[in-house]
Amino acid sequence: MTLCARQISKSFRIPKPLTLFSSIDLDVAAGESVAILGRSGCGKSTLLQILGTLEAPSSGSLQLCGKDALRGNLTQLRLLKVGFVFQSFHLLDDLSALENVALPARIARRSPKEALERASELLEELSLSAQAHTPAKLLSGGEKQRVALARALCNRPALLLADEPTGNLDRESAQEVEDLLLSSCRRYGTALLLVTHDESLARRANRLLHLENGLLR
Ligand SMILES: Nc1ncnc2c1ncn2[C@@H]1O[C@H](COP(=O)(O)OP(=O)(O)O)[C@@H](O)[C@H]1O
Ligand SMILES: [Mg+2]
Repeated sequence: MTLCARQISKSFRIPKPLTLFSSIDLDVAAGESVAILGRSGCGKSTLLQILGTLEAPSSGSLQLCGKDALRGNLTQLRLLKVGFVFQSFHLLDDLSALENVALPARIARRSPKEALERASELLEELSLSAQAHTPAKLLSGGEKQRVALARALCNRPALLLADEPTGNLDRESAQEVEDLLLSSCRRYGTALLLVTHDESLARRANRLLHLENGLLR
């Protein structure tokens, strides 16, 4: 199992006591896509951050590719096993598309040559070769999100987490990003966990879950 979460809970004490969820169980297999729908503020982003080891749960257990994902060297586990795509892209504006995509491979200590080759391959697959040397800040929203997707795939993660990836895009770009997200994960056998408000996108996943009143079902 790529992702195996048991009895995950998350509460905050500040600014006021708030329990978002108290016993979430979730398994996602290699190559499987799971969409999560839920109203704004119900805890979708927090859940994704926890499952991606960016944030600690209040309690529960989490395994990524059979490894304990709450203890040990989480930076390395995250770098090599998890890719993230955010609603607001989070690209480095002054770096080119190619440099943005190659960055995770450089951080994983691949040689500059290997990192740039991998990044070029991905840009080609995502129909972005013409934009390779364009600074990220000059790209359109759809192009930015395709660059962000390429970056997320750069270290061939086992798990891709996408938090409202089409939320900031017009309908046409959203469609394009949607298609590429699903097809890339199928091609690489990447497990996909997708938070979205877009029901038509959610229905294209293998499984559709709702986060409501702290329950995922
Ligand atoms: N670090 C935090 N401290 C306190 N409250 C938080 C923190 N992070 C998120 N929250 C609260 O948890 C709730 C869920 O947030 P979030 O996971 O972003 O929801 P969603 O992505 O479903 O809109 C919100 O009410 C938010 O204010
Ligand atoms: Mg959110």
